[in-house]
Amino acid sequence: MNIKREDLDVLLSEEQIQTRIKEIGAQITEAYKDRDDLHVIAVLKGSFMFLTDLVKAIDLELTVDFLGLSSYGDSTETSGVVRMTQDLSLPIKNRHVLVVEDIVDTGLTLKYLVENLQTRHPASLAIVSLLDKPENRTVDVDVQYTGFTIPNEFVIGYGLDYAEKFRNLPFIGVVRKG
Ligand code: IMP
Ligand code: MG
Repeated sequence: MNIKREDLDVLLSEEQIQTRIKEIGAQITEAYKDRDDLHVIAVLKGSFMFLTDLVKAIDLELTVDFLGLSSYGDSTETSGVVRMTQDLSLPIKNRHVLVVEDIVDTGLTLKYLVENLQTRHPASLAIVSLLDKPENRTVDVDVQYTGFTIPNEFVIGYGLDYAEKFRNLPFIGVVRKG
């Protein structure tokens, strides 16, 4: 498949995304206002854009770290094998960790991540995902904050890639059918 910008329909506009992120940011601000030490961990690469907008919408002192995971090759199907491509740079023991994900599909990536992070004994662990594709779930994962629930289609843009491209689109698009 060779996708071009012209082949994409807008599923979620820049405005819809930004409005929703402000709502989630307010929710997170409220939920964490009495806890010290909010530590936000973005899962690279897909969540880099969501992270930057989300942390601006959280009105609290916080710290940020990054972790690289990869489960997809250059295709639109999950390989089922999750690999850590980059570990955290800071310890998370006794910290209130909020993991920022772009999308939960089968759930395999998050399951792997949650199990890995739990062994490091954070004070608490919660997940915020911009998108959720529940139809494709094969393992149970607890996601505390979700931006949008979407149909089981391959989406691109706003951090999400197709063969590493299109991450810079300010909206989320879907490949036009037919
Ligand atoms: P899971 O392990 O199947 O839940 O897949 C999660 C990861 O696969 C996400 O963090 C994304 O990086 C990638 N992914 C899943 N669905 C899509 C999609 O529709 N577009 C782009 N990447 C996706
Ligand atoms: Mg991801």
